[in-house]
Amino acid sequence: MKIGIVGLGAIGSLWAVKCHQNDHQVVGFTRSQVTETLSIQLDDSQPIRIKANDYHALQQCQLLLVTVKSTQVTTALEPLHAFLNKDTPIIFLHNGMGAVDALDDKWHKNPLLLATTTQAAFRPIKNQVNHTGAGQTLIGPSLFTSSFNLAKIKDLIVELDSVLPRVKWCDDIHNALWNKLIINCVINPLTAIHQCRNGELASDKFKAQISWLIDEICQVISAEKIEISHQDLVDNVYRVIQSTAQNFSSMNQDIAHHRATEIDFITGYLMRTANKHGLTLPHNQALMEQIKALQTN
Ligand code: PAF
Repeated sequence: MKIGIVGLGAIGSLWAVKCHQNDHQVVGFTRSQVTETLSIQLDDSQPIRIKANDYHALQQCQLLLVTVKSTQVTTALEPLHAFLNKDTPIIFLHNGMGAVDALDDKWHKNPLLLATTTQAAFRPIKNQVNHTGAGQTLIGPSLFTSSFNLAKIKDLIVELDSVLPRVKWCDDIHNALWNKLIINCVINPLTAIHQCRNGELASDKFKAQISWLIDEICQVISAEKIEISHQDLVDNVYRVIQSTAQNFSSMNQDIAHHRATEIDFITGYLMRTANKHGLTLPHNQALMEQIKALQTN
């Protein structure tokens, strides 16, 4: 297959190398001005070279994988629109929710698919990516994708599963995205504000605050009719705190490196949904305000 990958951060680079190693032709799109090829090395394997920012190659792409942050989705896609076929499926893989809803109607002709992953990757330096933990990627339809050739999409999923297992089709991707959003609503702002590793949130010092945050989140998910119990929510959050104990969350890193965070698509999305149901979430609201204040410093 010919596959376009937008964003060559850790996850985008991991997919780029895996696709290349499985004999797919990859073209990468980055913010950098590179126009010929760029090299990526996965762990200690032989570095690969892929085409970069070749808009004409995009016309032949059978799949576009968008791995930029939720805050960059609109601007990263804009220059690609004129070159992309209208039947090419686009898979969005990022933290947070709401970025795809914000896309202009002109994108609704393509099958738009949403994904969430527990694959862990880390980019210690430019052009190098480390696959730090195997996980699972779930892919399902966005609300704008009511009619598309499901059989064709499912073939694509089978192909992606052989590239970087496990990849699974998930009809209820909305539910899976909410499960991830909840984890990000707790871990990301707290680790960014306290500039700590994820694992430090397991200490007693954070117990009460995490419990208040989850209580508020529970009100929203029950108003949204998302099926997950309070206890499962607590277990999921602490499971990820433990399994990623040594990591610095993406928001921690964004604040540490004075970059814009995804707060508007994480806690911001939670707050917008709460507003819709007439709910107020003072603890989550306070975290969001703290992150916004840190972002402007
Ligand atoms: O944003 C992140 O860093 C990750 O989604 C997670 C799961 C919180 C692990 O660090």
